[in-house]
Amino acid sequence: MCPSRKVRVTAVQSPGRSGPCQASSRAAKPDADPGDQRSAPPAGRVEELPGQSECLDPTATDDPLTLFHRTLAESGDAYLHTDQYFNVRNTEAHATGTGPEIVKDLDGNAPDWFIACVGTAGSSTGVARVLREHDPRVRVVGLVAAKSDFIPGIRTLDEVHEVGLFDPGTYDTIASVRADEAIDGMLVLNRRCGIMAGPTGGAAYTGAVRHLRAYDDEPTGENGRRTAVFIVCDRVESYLSYVRQRRPELLGRPRRAHSLAELSDTEVRAAPAVAVPDARAWIEREQPLVVDLRSPYAYAALHIDGSVNIVDELFEELVHGGLPFSRSRPVLLACPVGEQSARYAALLTRMGHPDVRSLAGGIIAWRDAGTPLVRE
Ligand SMILES: Cc1ncc(COP(=O)(O)O)c(C=O)c1O
Repeated sequence: MCPSRKVRVTAVQSPGRSGPCQASSRAAKPDADPGDQRSAPPAGRVEELPGQSECLDPTATDDPLTLFHRTLAESGDAYLHTDQYFNVRNTEAHATGTGPEIVKDLDGNAPDWFIACVGTAGSSTGVARVLREHDPRVRVVGLVAAKSDFIPGIRTLDEVHEVGLFDPGTYDTIASVRADEAIDGMLVLNRRCGIMAGPTGGAAYTGAVRHLRAYDDEPTGENGRRTAVFIVCDRVESYLSYVRQRRPELLGRPRRAHSLAELSDTEVRAAPAVAVPDARAWIEREQPLVVDLRSPYAYAALHIDGSVNIVDELFEELVHGGLPFSRSRPVLLACPVGEQSARYAALLTRMGHPDVRSLAGGIIAWRDAGTPLVRE
């Protein structure tokens, strides 16, 4: 049990799973005829697909999921796609497992609040259903990552609608948590509560405490307490590289200078941006250096003529070392939808570049405006 406010907060730890943005692996179909060896894969084979970035790029032609679906389609019925995003058994597993487990732990009661991060939406949907059947007054809070922020295993507000199991009706409230807040929450759970949660568990904790704070002054129930449950769905060991990248000092490494994590929302909102028609005119007039932050695959397929490709992760490394470009030439940054480029535009501006702009709406907006793109 964690904070000793009026609201009792209970953490339920469930086994960790791979996050939605990670490459899927092949699973041998369990009911395949064992005598039929023609197309069956060797038992237990796991094939790793290339992970190009933390989140999928809609303009990429060779992203892991496309490869995955292509391989499945080509292999006939040799494989079973368990598909955690659309498989109703995901929800069922939580409706028959996690939900009743929570009610049992609360001596046969539903909590006043149920708070969960939303990845596939399976756990929150299954648990919410059972808790509401038990007591329709339970309030359900779904947590997602803040816009263009990455927290392993959960979606951003924009992405969540693409998940097959997501139904907005499940949640009374949907709130977002930033990656740095998720890590702060994780540290509280690790250090103060002895719960070895990872960043998603930390996001659930932070989101829960923030949501519940608003109720601190409300009158309490019969026994003077109310109950909230949040799910801790990961373990920290699996996410050490994520933590190291964002908080190297926690692993005894020097803190990195010029990090996106240092930016405030206000700085990102104030980042200089330029819409497609103005960007075009600007390119013709002043010939800024156009930097495309997408994957090499997406870049090779279609890009702005004359642009250079510095993939997001590499760009982040470069920036840690100081301004990677001369201050004398303007810079236009482009990414898939204009969110990551806005963050880098804010960072480079903070680092003293006098004229760096983000392409508003990204390459998608450029393409949708019918503006020319070239192929490698
Ligand atoms: C680490 C982690 N956290 C949270 C979640 C979110 O839970 P759900 O997928 O049930 O919405 C997942 C889902 O895969 C996950 O892997």
